[in-house]
Amino acid sequence: MSIQSVIKGTGSFLPSKILTNVDLEKIVETSDEWIFQRTGIRQRHIVSGEETTSVLASNAARQALAASGLSSDDIDGVIVATTTPDLTFPSVAVHVQAELNLPAKMAFDIQAVCTGFIYALSTAHSFIQSGQCKNILVIGAESMSSILDWEDRTTCVLFGDGAGAVVLGASEETDDKASTPQRGILSTHLYADGRYKDILCTNGGVSKTRSTGVIQMQGREVFKQAVTLMHNIVEEALSANGFTGNDLDWLVPHQANIRIISATAEKLGLPMDKVVVTVEDQGNTSAASIPLALDLAVRDGRIQKNQLILLEALGGGLTWGASLLRF
Ligand code: UT7
Repeated sequence: MSIQSVIKGTGSFLPSKILTNVDLEKIVETSDEWIFQRTGIRQRHIVSGEETTSVLASNAARQALAASGLSSDDIDGVIVATTTPDLTFPSVAVHVQAELNLPAKMAFDIQAVCTGFIYALSTAHSFIQSGQCKNILVIGAESMSSILDWEDRTTCVLFGDGAGAVVLGASEETDDKASTPQRGILSTHLYADGRYKDILCTNGGVSKTRSTGVIQMQGREVFKQAVTLMHNIVEEALSANGFTGNDLDWLVPHQANIRIISATAEKLGLPMDKVVVTVEDQGNTSAASIPLALDLAVRDGRIQKNQLILLEALGGGLTWGASLLRF
């Protein structure tokens, strides 16, 4: 009998400082109307003071752990998806491990930009299925505001900061497929195509420029790729499991642009009230956007046990991925 990995708890954390589109009108030549119409964003949360990515990650992780009902001693792995770590090393994952006083088991970061959470979830799933770990904290955490060029209106209006987390653990339920549908991660689908590495990137990094650089994006080209690749990957994830869009309870997409999200929902034949949308209040929080949206919909009661949920994302690399799961 194969080991199934299920989401045992979710958590999230947003910095308290909010930057609205109207605030941005004072920083660059833009307007609330342009930003909202083109992206669906009205505001984003931004780190301030002593807040770093590991602070956001630790707060989200603490909540997910509490929601899981497990104790810190039950956690035998921490995987953090981030592109904006506190330090080049050690990883955000070990910061979280120390902050939550977790056992000295594996802890590492994954960098797949906006697709990072799907990559991290897929990796954690493999560790659990192979029997190497029982319960892993999987976190998406970003301080995107720290790698923005605040004079570039084509990028600085798009991103926000935050963190979301889940405890992914081996299911204790018996595998009685006859009476109940199988819960947990049903499949994950990961892709990357380095030929597109220059359309969404930073213009610096430690070994090239001894700095982090700032985000640069050919927005229209990324948009075009995102619509096509998301169409393909949601179909792939559903058909791999013998489902169609009609079977889905929720789409929890990466939150880059409401127009990309709506196009994907339309392709699935899914009404927008079955899509968890946070982009208006949070902007694009990169690897944090999916676990932030997931936690919001779990806490407000929309997402319920046994529901069928599709996660999908695309980001710099290009990287893209999806995961179908029964909550
Ligand atoms: O999370 C990782 C994945 N990222 C994405 O999926 C992002 C994908 N791309 C997008 O979401 C969209 O391409 C953007 C929101 C970034 C841009 O929207 P767009 O409809 O593709 O606009 P555009 O880049 O074609 O720009 C249209 C116009 C340009 O002016 P001209 O050349 O038509 O005169 C821009 O200079 O809008 C101008 N513009 C702005 N105007 C006011 C660009 N940024 C702004 C701004 N405020 N902030």
